[in-house]
Amino acid sequence: MTLRSSISTPEGKRRYVRRLFATIADRYDFITGFLSYGQDRRWKRRLIALADIQPADRVLDLACGTGDLLFAAAATARQAVGLDITHRMLQLAKQRQRAEVVTGDMLALPFGAARFHVVTTGYGLRNVPDLPAALAEIHRVLAPGGRLLSLDFNRPENPIVRGAYLAYLSVVGSALGLALHGDPDTYRYIPESIRLYPGARGVAQLLERAGFAHVRAIPLLGGFMAIHTATKAPRSGSGP
Ligand SMILES: C[S@@+](CC[C@H](N)C(=O)[O-])C[C@H]1O[C@@H](n2cnc3c(N)ncnc32)[C@H](O)[C@@H]1O
Repeated sequence: MTLRSSISTPEGKRRYVRRLFATIADRYDFITGFLSYGQDRRWKRRLIALADIQPADRVLDLACGTGDLLFAAAATARQAVGLDITHRMLQLAKQRQRAEVVTGDMLALPFGAARFHVVTTGYGLRNVPDLPAALAEIHRVLAPGGRLLSLDFNRPENPIVRGAYLAYLSVVGSALGLALHGDPDTYRYIPESIRLYPGARGVAQLLERAGFAHVRAIPLLGGFMAIHTATKAPRSGSGP
């Protein structure tokens, strides 16, 4: 079965993603720095600045991986919790820094309603098999007035730019997968997942459909990446 057909159904994508991140966890930080030409740290700093986390805030970092956004949030917030489906990622995060982490699925968050003031996620939304369901869960666990911030790839709208971009990511990903894991498909997942992703504009529309207000998509790297920001509407009569 090809990579593309493996991730073409929600169940197939769920299975593929679980196996993939368990395989690459120990190389994840190196690969992320390499594939982003070192820009990943800058984008994450930008997301944290936009989050404007306050000392009284409770923050949930979804798909927290090895913990970059989680640790940055924890530096200010009253509480910062990281959630990830891959146990090995959380082990690596805890080796870096003491942290409150939970193994779990973004599609079924083990938290009560309105628990968090801020939800962050770095390269998380693109990996879920059911994006509207993930957004509904995020909306549920956010307090009224709470903010969501998500960093991820964009899917260029121009078909020529998109084709060239995905071809480039495929070539680089194949070479890297072969060199590091003996399997060219390992990092070809990135362009294949972008192909199936609705892109920055599509994600913004889904956020609005999920009930978020003040939805913004901030382009990064000339529009190849984006940070989304969105707010859960405050209860009428109360402040944000
Ligand atoms: C590309 S990594 C991002 C890690 C980290 N957020 C960062 O920015 O460096 C994607 C992460 O999403 C996690 N993941 C994938 N599907 C998930 C799901 N349904 N629920 C929670 N985490 C998930 C993977 O285990 C992986 O750690």
